[in-house]
Amino acid sequence: MQKVRKAVIPAAGLGTRFLPATKAMAKEMLPIVDKPTIQFIIEEAIDSGIEEILIVTGRSKRSIEDHFDSNFELEQNLEEKEKWSLLKLVESTTKIKLHFIRQSYPKGLGDAVLHAKSFVGNEPFIVLLGDDMMKDEVPLTKQLMDRHDKTGLSVLATMRVPDKDTSKYGIVDPAAKLEDGLYEVNQFVEKPKAEEAPSNLAIIGRYLLNPEIFEMLEKQAPGARNEVQLTDAIEQLNKTQKVLAHELKGTRYDVGDKFGFMTTSIEYGLEHPEVKDDLKNYLIQLSKELRTQE
Ligand code: G1P
Repeated sequence: MQKVRKAVIPAAGLGTRFLPATKAMAKEMLPIVDKPTIQFIIEEAIDSGIEEILIVTGRSKRSIEDHFDSNFELEQNLEEKEKWSLLKLVESTTKIKLHFIRQSYPKGLGDAVLHAKSFVGNEPFIVLLGDDMMKDEVPLTKQLMDRHDKTGLSVLATMRVPDKDTSKYGIVDPAAKLEDGLYEVNQFVEKPKAEEAPSNLAIIGRYLLNPEIFEMLEKQAPGARNEVQLTDAIEQLNKTQKVLAHELKGTRYDVGDKFGFMTTSIEYGLEHPEVKDDLKNYLIQLSKELRTQE
């Protein structure tokens, strides 16, 4: 079985949900406490054994490239002031083998992934969406890689969502259950209306794909929102080789949404050694005050 070595991170979206913050700044650089969301995503890939990553960027995304490059002046300054732990943090972002390509027009997630065709070549690969941060004992990317090692098939990460939310996601119509948390799939539908959704099993932002997906993407006409949808190409792939759905047992944090971003910041803050105690005390005090106002 060919090992999965490469990852693709689409990061060309306009970030309209976070305007005005994202007018000149990449939404992927918004921090959860002190770390940009895209760094969490890259760390998940690396912790899973991924060796090379392509980031598909667009306008106003240069800060992503700068973040993962060395910053000589800053490093020298921290060295002079003997701020070793900060220096280590700054240097940690430069040890990753990254490639960048630009998607000039926002033609959809499927089109962004198609930009990775020559980087990926004829290998299975993983797509990680920056809006979804995951937490589990084994990184979700590694869970998908283990499923692929055993089956050789494409595998998507999924989780159950409330019925009212199905129109926000690609939805899977699960068929036979192969083993615990692994399904064959009848159909993949991008953002169906609640009353038309075949289930509440939603695609979340990790896709392990065989390279035949590119043939499907090249033929794929625009779908929902008049964009080339990755889900539609996966639906076509599933007709020629099975695409499986893996159900996440851990936690997904939707950092592409304002409320999700805020709750994720609080949860990560409660684990951050520098701020966790103060934050906890603040939250206890705040909740007391809020209760008296009810
Ligand atoms: C994208 C995909 C969708 C998937 C979702 C997961 O949608 O098109 O199939 O369920 O990510 O976060 P977006 O969130 O970009 O609208």
